[in-house]
Amino acid sequence: MRTPLVVANWKMNGTLAEARALTAGVRDGLKRPRGVDVVLCPPFTALGVVAELLAGSPMALGAQNCHWETAGAFTGEISPAMLVELGCTYVIVGHSERRRDLGETDEQINRKVRAVLALGMTPVLCVGETAEERRQGLTFTTVEGQLRAGLAGLDHRAIGSGVLAYEPVWAIGTGVNATPAQAAEVHGYLRGLLTELATKEVAQRVRILYGGSVKPDNAGALTAEPDIDGALVGGASLSAQGFVAIVKKVTHKGVTVLKGE
Ligand code: PGA
Repeated sequence: MRTPLVVANWKMNGTLAEARALTAGVRDGLKRPRGVDVVLCPPFTALGVVAELLAGSPMALGAQNCHWETAGAFTGEISPAMLVELGCTYVIVGHSERRRDLGETDEQINRKVRAVLALGMTPVLCVGETAEERRQGLTFTTVEGQLRAGLAGLDHRAIGSGVLAYEPVWAIGTGVNATPAQAAEVHGYLRGLLTELATKEVAQRVRILYGGSVKPDNAGALTAEPDIDGALVGGASLSAQGFVAIVKKVTHKGVTVLKGE
């Protein structure tokens, strides 16, 4: 059985004071989340303060990106080893904003996935089609290409250690989420590909999150789909109340989280 996972992607938002307030708000709203894993991914600058506030909490710390090398002449980059030192256990890799705005390639994303795994962290590999690709009937082709390239050269054990996120580009930050049926179709397809790339057992173990305009009022229906194992939440994770409400709505496998438990 897969434990549902909810990941907050704060993107490039938050002063240190805001990061502290948001972390404290989530921590107090979800004292001991049961049956669900929760990860906060603040910007690099706030990882230290968020790590301090999460000490002793079951919530985990994640980064939004990293380089694939451990150290060296890579101006402006952050290495996976630096993230480990700060207490990160998850790293979002291949987010569509980085693919689109910074030209991140599948090959670079694959190197990042390997580097994150090599240091014992969990990559959250993002895949998703644009509106145009969906219109042209290329949804499966697109996500399949991204998945195969992102996981290229990984053995079964490594594939089983990662997390996937299906994030249709047209749903990110638009307020228009994929319907549960639309998302479930792609999640099922991705799980089928994992079976092909590894084994059925491995495919059944990997958590596949949905991301794209997840809110408290759609999180329950989306994660009620058997193949949707949680959410990658952008905009709505910037409100402690909203994010806590989303975690509580994760109904996959009948899990509920009660305040203070
Ligand atoms: P959103 O972003 O929830 O603001 O749509 C999701 C994401 O980009 O991870």
